[in-house]
Amino acid sequence: MLRMEHKILIAASAEQIWPWLLQLGTGRAGWYSYDWIDNFAKNSFQYIEPDLQSLNLEDTVNGFKLVEKIENQKLVFQISSWLNFTYYLKERARGTELQATLQVKGPRLLLMPTLGLAHDIMQRKQLKEIQKRVERPFSAACERNKKAILLKLKEVLGTKFQRVFEVGAGTGQHALYFTNHMCNLHWTPADIASNLEGIDSWVKHAPQSQVAKPYLFDLNSPKIPDIKFDAIYSANVLHIVEKNKTEFLIDLLPKILNESGIVLFYGPFNYNGSYTSDTNQKFDQWLKSRDPESGIRDFEWLSEKMQARGFYLENDFAMPANNRFLVFQRNA
Ligand SMILES: C[S@@+](CC[C@H](N)C(=O)[O-])C[C@H]1O[C@@H](n2cnc3c(N)ncnc32)[C@H](O)[C@@H]1O
Repeated sequence: MLRMEHKILIAASAEQIWPWLLQLGTGRAGWYSYDWIDNFAKNSFQYIEPDLQSLNLEDTVNGFKLVEKIENQKLVFQISSWLNFTYYLKERARGTELQATLQVKGPRLLLMPTLGLAHDIMQRKQLKEIQKRVERPFSAACERNKKAILLKLKEVLGTKFQRVFEVGAGTGQHALYFTNHMCNLHWTPADIASNLEGIDSWVKHAPQSQVAKPYLFDLNSPKIPDIKFDAIYSANVLHIVEKNKTEFLIDLLPKILNESGIVLFYGPFNYNGSYTSDTNQKFDQWLKSRDPESGIRDFEWLSEKMQARGFYLENDFAMPANNRFLVFQRNA
């Protein structure tokens, strides 16, 4: 019997590592190892794909059948009774240990220099690659909302609006995911200085022709980009920055946008002076307890300010979790 165990300590929770394991496999997210060997030279995913998260018992991944699954803890794959491998997540003081164990029936002396050696090289690489992916700055909210936002972006941007400037890009997860799913997009993620390195750790894996280097854009002292964009996208920013910064951003929009460009705001908004849900109300209270000038903006107030700057509301889409996706078109 050949039994090989590899471990790595990842500075993250088991819940953060789990989705990367669920999507493993050639023709899926890849094996995060040497892709030219086990993924037809196609790069393993650098993002979590929501469509690959439903891995169930008895499902088969590249010939390996999933025979045991304990949520956020354990996955056991098997080929008949002669080979199995297990991923096991154990909570540790400084993060989570990811353990990968391979067991193969047969003479160890024969298996070790052949299968064993190859497995050792591939497995070490895989664990390191998972660690790299998981230890980047991570927003769980981005993972929850990215698929719904992508569908709206496809609908609204189509192929007409290709050059997008993102205000408050956060971690960069959105930029990477959207450009991976819309090959015509050219995206410039922008944020305050302290976020740029983290954004780069995500977007450096995007097709180079599609994502620009993260751009320093701080509403406290903004530098207007040299080029103009077809669209400005900003998710969950207007309620974070102070109200006067939101107004300031609106003032700047015409300087960043093409004559026929559009502005897309995603996030929670109030209507007719009321919250649209209890959770939004609680969220607003929490925001204001941190910074009394932050808080969920009134849709009517925003629309009026936008109109004064030459933008009319083209669409107001309802989104999951009481969020909205607002589309403003610049008056030509
Ligand atoms: C809640 S996060 C949203 C991040 C990302 N768009 C998302 O949807 O996950 C708010 C973002 O606003 C950015 N932000 C805060 N103050 C800012 C300022 N003065 N100028 C520009 N961006 C700012 C933060 O750095 C952060 O990336």
